[in-house]
Order: sequence, then C-alpha cells, then structure tokens
Amino acid sequence: MYISKRGQRLLEHQQPLVRAHFLCAQNPWSPENPDGYINLGTAENHLVFDLLEPRLNASPGIQEHHTHYAELHGMEAFRELLSGYLSEMTGVLVSAGELAVASGSSSIIDMLVYALCEPGDGIIIPAPYYAGFDHDLKTRVQVEPVPAFTSPENGHKLTLEVLQQALLQAGRRTIKVRGILITNPNNPLGRVYDRKTLEMIVAFAREHKLQLISDELYAKSVFGDRYISLAGMSEEAGIDYHIVYGFAKDFGLSGFKTGMLFTRQEKLLKAVQELAYFMPVSNATQKILSNLLAGKAWLNHFFEENSKRLAQASGVCHQVLSEKGIHAEPNNAGFFAWLDLSRYLSSASAEAEMELYQHILENAKVNISPGQVFHGAEPGWFRLCYARPEQMIRESVSRISASLEHIQIPEKT
Ligand SMILES: Cc1ncc(COP(=O)(O)O)c(C=O)c1O
Repeated sequence: MYISKRGQRLLEHQQPLVRAHFLCAQNPWSPENPDGYINLGTAENHLVFDLLEPRLNASPGIQEHHTHYAELHGMEAFRELLSGYLSEMTGVLVSAGELAVASGSSSIIDMLVYALCEPGDGIIIPAPYYAGFDHDLKTRVQVEPVPAFTSPENGHKLTLEVLQQALLQAGRRTIKVRGILITNPNNPLGRVYDRKTLEMIVAFAREHKLQLISDELYAKSVFGDRYISLAGMSEEAGIDYHIVYGFAKDFGLSGFKTGMLFTRQEKLLKAVQELAYFMPVSNATQKILSNLLAGKAWLNHFFEENSKRLAQASGVCHQVLSEKGIHAEPNNAGFFAWLDLSRYLSSASAEAEMELYQHILENAKVNISPGQVFHGAEPGWFRLCYARPEQMIRESVSRISASLEHIQIPEKT
C-alpha cells in the first residue's frame, strides 16, 4: 500500500519512554505483586487522587448545550475560569480572549510552532529538556530543536554563553532560529529558574529578536523556592512571549489531555485557534475541569497539600538515594530527581548509557529514563519520577542499588 513520505517518517519515530511505560503497565508492582515492574519513568503525579476523587465524581452538571458543538478552542465559560486562574498564576492580567485550549500541551506546542516557524527553522531549548519536545517540534511541523547544553560541572546552570553557543551552532547548520523554549519549573532538572536567569533569557530573546515560549506546566508543583512566570518580565521588556500550561502535571490529570496557550499576539492566537479545530477537548471534560477551577478554597487546599506531598516524596527519594551513594542534583519543583550514574557506565558513551538503562530495567525491574532522551550533555544521567507512594520509592531505590552492585566500576584512567 502507498504511504506518503510524511507517513513513512511517523513509522520511523522512536518513543522509548512510551514503550517502557506500557511494558511496566502489563505487570505493575504492588505489595501484592512484589515481582512486578515499577515505572518511575513517566512524568505523572500519583500522590493526589484522593484529593481529586470526591470533586471529580460529584455530578458534573452537564446541560444540553454541553452535548452540542461549542467553540473548538475551548468553551467561553471554561476560558473565563482559566483566565482568572492564569492571571493569578502568572501575575499578569489574562483574558479569555487570549487563550486557546486543545487536547494536551503537546498539541499546543505543535500548533504554536506550526504557526510561528517555517519547516527547517529552529527553536533553542536549554538541555537537558523534556523528551516530548522533539516529537512536538519535529514530527508534523519539521522544526529543529537546537539544544543549549548545560553542563553537570556547574550544576546544569543556564548561562548566556550556553545560549550564545546554541545560536552559533544553529548558524553553522544554517538553521534560522525563531525562538527559545524554556520549561519553568524545569523537567527533567526538577527546579525553578531564578529571577536573574530569567532576566538573562529575556534579554537574550530581545537582543536576537526571538519569540519566547515558556512551558509552565509545573508552576504549582513547587516546594522550597518560588516560581516566577516569564510573563511579567517579558511584558516589561516589550518582547513577544507565549505561555503553555495544562492540567497534566499540577492537577495530576495527565489522562484528561487538556492544555492551553496564553498569548497577547492576536494573529498567532487566531492561527492556533483555527488548528485547535483538529484537537479539541470534549465539552464534558471542560465542564469537569471547570468544576475544579470554580472551587477557590478547594483549589488552594489542593495545591498546598500537593506541594507538601511532593516535598515529602522528594525528601524521601533524595535521602534513600544518598544512603545508597547515588548523587542527585538539588531540586525544588516538579516530580524529578536527576541522577548521576555515570560511574557505572562501561564507557562514556550513549550506547553504554542505554546498556545501563536496560540492565536496570531487566534486573531491578525499575524504569527510569536515560539522559540521552533529554539531550543531557554527558552520558550517565537518569531521570527518576518520584511522585509515588513512599514504599514504592524505597523499594525501587533499593532494587536499583542492588542491581548496580553487580556492575564492575571501570577504573578511572
Ligand atoms: C514540560 C512538559 N511539557 C508538556 C508535556 C506534555 O503534556 P500533555 O500531556 O498535556 O500533552 C509534558 C509531559 O510530560 C511536560 O513534562
């Protein structure tokens, strides 16, 4: 059968994280199934369902108009509630008319780059970065991610030099860079950017006339430090910025596939709203989410409790890792521990990192994600998602550590 070149490209697409997710789902660990797989590779929050359940299962109040077509970029009533929520979150006044809703933040990013870039253009992304961006940028729209590599040597700090280097690299590859995409709080590093770094990013975008895209999906999953949205400072600097948000992370609702774009750029928004026709969120889902947003007191309690639980899980995870002699970068947000297992590599290479990944998956039956899918600068780093019950974290770290004991650490030359 004939299949287009575009279709062929999709067949070649690799999704190692998705494969591992479903492998674990076939035989998941539980206290009753102690030999099962533990999946700490998927960025999901498994600590809050008890808080969500009563509200999700209360009658959603579906009315007849919900059963018919509504605006495919999000019902007006839903966008009204979202505008209030995002105004509080970002610190700038957001209106319902500046939003587009679609099925997942991945779709939002795909549509955004479709409307901002020509095929072959580039977007700078500080690395390590969320693996899905490759898919979002490249698959349909053929936009090139241009990694700005941060280094383990200085704690993965994002500096001006790192951004300049990425721009230079893009120039060498004759890629026209249209924008910069940051994730704040960061996945996979699990921390917020401080004000100084954000100001540096804004100044860089301004100097090089780049569109600034800020994925702020983990804005409320912060403990320890303060998240600062890029919205306010971009506005002060007078540059174009676009905020991506969604319900997958802060609300623990990855299965509801609901994301949104906030932008002040009318033409861009109109273009994205047109595309949202193909990727809408059902009215029933929007109504259930509206019920969550409408309960201010509930929402405050939910986020307070969520932060406490994430802080607790992160604390336990870092403690048991350190007891086993495994270094993880300091963190203050998200669900992630960024681990250094480089001393267990047979050589400093991507292949050796993949071997170690397979070794841990097969021997410890724990799925953690190899740094190469996030474009880590050096091999041997892994992302572990700890938003899981304490017993599961303890069990996995102890299994990982036991599986590493069988590995002969190569002598340093
Ligand atoms: C930074 C970031 N952006 C976007 C997404 C995708 O979100 P969604 O499931 O809403 O498409 C993820 C999921 O892991 C993420 O970590």
